[in-house]
Amino acid sequence: MLLTPSKGENLPTAYGGAIVVGYAKVVKENVYMRCTHCGAVYDASPRRFFCEKCGGILEVVVEPPKQVVFRGRGVWRYHSLLPLNTSEPVTLNEGNTPLLEIKRIAENISFKGKLYAKYEGANPTGSFKDRGMTVAVTLAREIGVRHAIAASTGNTASSAAAYTARAGIKLTLVLPRGKVALGKLGQSILHGADIVEIEGSFDDALKAVIKASTISTSVYPLNSFNAWRLEGQKTIAFEIWEEIGVPDWVVVPVGNGGNIAAIWKGFKELREAGLIDSLPRMAGVQASGAAPLATAFERGLDKPEFVEKPETIATAIRIGKPINWAKAMKAVRESNGVFVKVTDEEILAAQHMLARLEGIGAEPAGAASIAGLKKLVEEGVIERGETVVVVVTGHALKDPDSMMRAPCRRKVASTVDEAVRMVVGGE
Ligand code: F0G
Repeated sequence: MLLTPSKGENLPTAYGGAIVVGYAKVVKENVYMRCTHCGAVYDASPRRFFCEKCGGILEVVVEPPKQVVFRGRGVWRYHSLLPLNTSEPVTLNEGNTPLLEIKRIAENISFKGKLYAKYEGANPTGSFKDRGMTVAVTLAREIGVRHAIAASTGNTASSAAAYTARAGIKLTLVLPRGKVALGKLGQSILHGADIVEIEGSFDDALKAVIKASTISTSVYPLNSFNAWRLEGQKTIAFEIWEEIGVPDWVVVPVGNGGNIAAIWKGFKELREAGLIDSLPRMAGVQASGAAPLATAFERGLDKPEFVEKPETIATAIRIGKPINWAKAMKAVRESNGVFVKVTDEEILAAQHMLARLEGIGAEPAGAASIAGLKKLVEEGVIERGETVVVVVTGHALKDPDSMMRAPCRRKVASTVDEAVRMVVGGE
């Protein structure tokens, strides 16, 4: 394997003055990095995010370990397939989320196969981001980071806020002003993050974080362009496989494209380790007002045309310039999968269907995958007898405003007797 010299790695005081005694101990020996765009390979570094040759986004490569051992529960159960050596992760016991068969939704959409929801809202801070954050923040702590930063539509923010709090690391968030759902903003405030609200979109916020982490090594970025974070998210694949084997399809809501790529990577690594011999097809779902990848897919383009002013009720995926576009497109292409767009109306209908037919509370972005599934089944792309896992990425409590939009019969009783009449009389 060709390894380029690790430029910029001799920075022992780079981490806020902390002495860095070789992160090599934290990163396993069977790990290196590769550019998703041009294929250039690099030795592993916690601070390497973009390709020095072409500027493309990097991925972490974990060569299949000699022995695969699964022990315990949640993300760290898969320690032998993760890139870090650590016996003391920064953890809130993330992962090990319910995989729920959703028969009533299947019936509602005349789907005859096996249909499951992977309920990522059941993670400690209410989204799948916790899987990535336990890995990224553990790495940050091990290399002596004192100050982390992240741009976010909200879930990365609240997850980073909780995990950095647990690790004793300061966090500054850059958030699109007025576009972060209340629950997520509240969590970020509660866990003590400093917040910069930018007059602009998430894409502007992310630009600020990339710039800041390029010009200053005293801040450590926790966004999904940090490939180390995505390593934690690949455990969604491991959990699905352990419970039901390899499904025909995995349906995932897509914003920046990191999660769909991470899940696909997880399945591929299971195959490389000789644990499975088939792979699922990946379906990425985007909101129609923020759908650069789905539009590129429809038009047969190799690259997305970015959306300058993305808009959707699913604020978590209100993203016009997905930083992981190449990884996401590769996941869909390699898996013979698809991208699909759904409208805000379809997203809200799916949110209500999940809540009312299955008791699963999802924020709009989390339910977008159900809306996508419905559409793909109706279009005949997903066949009615297949086995499908739909990833429900975030909890309903994240976005109280969206919950309040659900139709509801509500009345006011001015006396006890009136309340009794209303209850028994079905008024
Ligand atoms: N679903 C939810 C609930 C999310 O919060 C996100 C991303 C996604 C899906 C899309 O995942 O970006 O990996 O394609 N939220 C990010 C954030 C952008 O800042 O919380 P992706």
